[in-house]
Amino acid sequence: MFQDIMTRSAAFDLLPDHRSEVTLPGIVQLNRSIGRALRRQSASFQYYDEPAGDPELRSQLALRSARRGWAADADQFCITSGCQQSLFLALMAVCKRGDVVAVEAPGFYGVLQLLEQLQLKVVEIPASPNSGMDIQTLEETLQTWDVKACVVSPAFATPTGAVMPHETRVRLLALADQHQLAIIEDDIYGDSGWLNVPDTLKAIDESDRVIHCSSFSKVLSRDLRLGWVSGGRWHQQIVQLKLTSQLASSRFLQQGVADFIAEGGYSSFLRRYRQSLRQQRDHLLTLLGDWPVPLRATAPNGGLALWVELPPEVDTLSLYAETLKEGIVITPGSLFSVSGKFSNCLRISFAHPWNGARIAALHRLSELVS
Ligand SMILES: Cc1ncc(COP(=O)(O)O)c(C=O)c1O
Repeated sequence: MFQDIMTRSAAFDLLPDHRSEVTLPGIVQLNRSIGRALRRQSASFQYYDEPAGDPELRSQLALRSARRGWAADADQFCITSGCQQSLFLALMAVCKRGDVVAVEAPGFYGVLQLLEQLQLKVVEIPASPNSGMDIQTLEETLQTWDVKACVVSPAFATPTGAVMPHETRVRLLALADQHQLAIIEDDIYGDSGWLNVPDTLKAIDESDRVIHCSSFSKVLSRDLRLGWVSGGRWHQQIVQLKLTSQLASSRFLQQGVADFIAEGGYSSFLRRYRQSLRQQRDHLLTLLGDWPVPLRATAPNGGLALWVELPPEVDTLSLYAETLKEGIVITPGSLFSVSGKFSNCLRISFAHPWNGARIAALHRLSELVS
């Protein structure tokens, strides 16, 4: 199903066949910066970029990290081809086949796929829709299992949009020290918050046990395929793994994005984009208010999606094929866990404006779940 959703480009759109032809002004500016960087390219097309990635882009990332409480420098970043690759490199660096990794449940299905691919064992820790991973359960789990790594999304976790409170973060890092865990921070939604942008977990990581993973996919462009990883004590190993698996990243793309950030284009894009997301989330909540079935929906202040809990008899997994016949692609709750739980849940994205066609699709979906 994961592959089917991705093949239909539907991870964040109920109606991928009805794409709205909008080009945001910020994206036009981004494309210009990339075009200029491409035209500047002289002999560099005959050379590989350095393994860790373009120094200017890494400097821009370091400058931005300071806004989120983390005084990083450029050498602490390695450029990747997206957050999924960052997570992959992080898991490769800290685990070997058969090791146990703790994840949030519900949590990002891409991580579950990685764990399967790397033949790692998964232990799911319940996550609250508001405050994320339940640290008490993690603590108890660590007493029973030899867990090597823990993957968390402290800022606007998918699928719920939960934000981990400061005191929970402190407890998580204390547990990491006590049990010698690697904490893999998936921060891909961090910059999307419209009320506030939470600090990174890395900001309070005194033991260098946090591997920070992120990308531009959620807040700028999914098509750039540009992400980064800051590997803490495992950083050199991660750069080596990137070198082995990819050799290098595209230099002109990185330079174009670095210019876009340096010229202030990214900050102004983010300001406008967050406000659109906020309006689209509000609109979705209003539309859900008209559904004929009782439901509970999260109302996150960041991220691209919310989590809807329907009556227990609804099975969103079997609904997938039914909605597909009408061109509607849903993201069933069971994708977000290996346990078979959450079969009455759905992740619904508000990444796109609620135009007539999407409103009609959402209405049709409400009829099908009733
Ligand atoms: C929580 C989370 N992490 C990582 C990724 C992968 O991101 P990227 O497109 O940068 O590889 C996604 C994409 O859906 C995601 O939702």
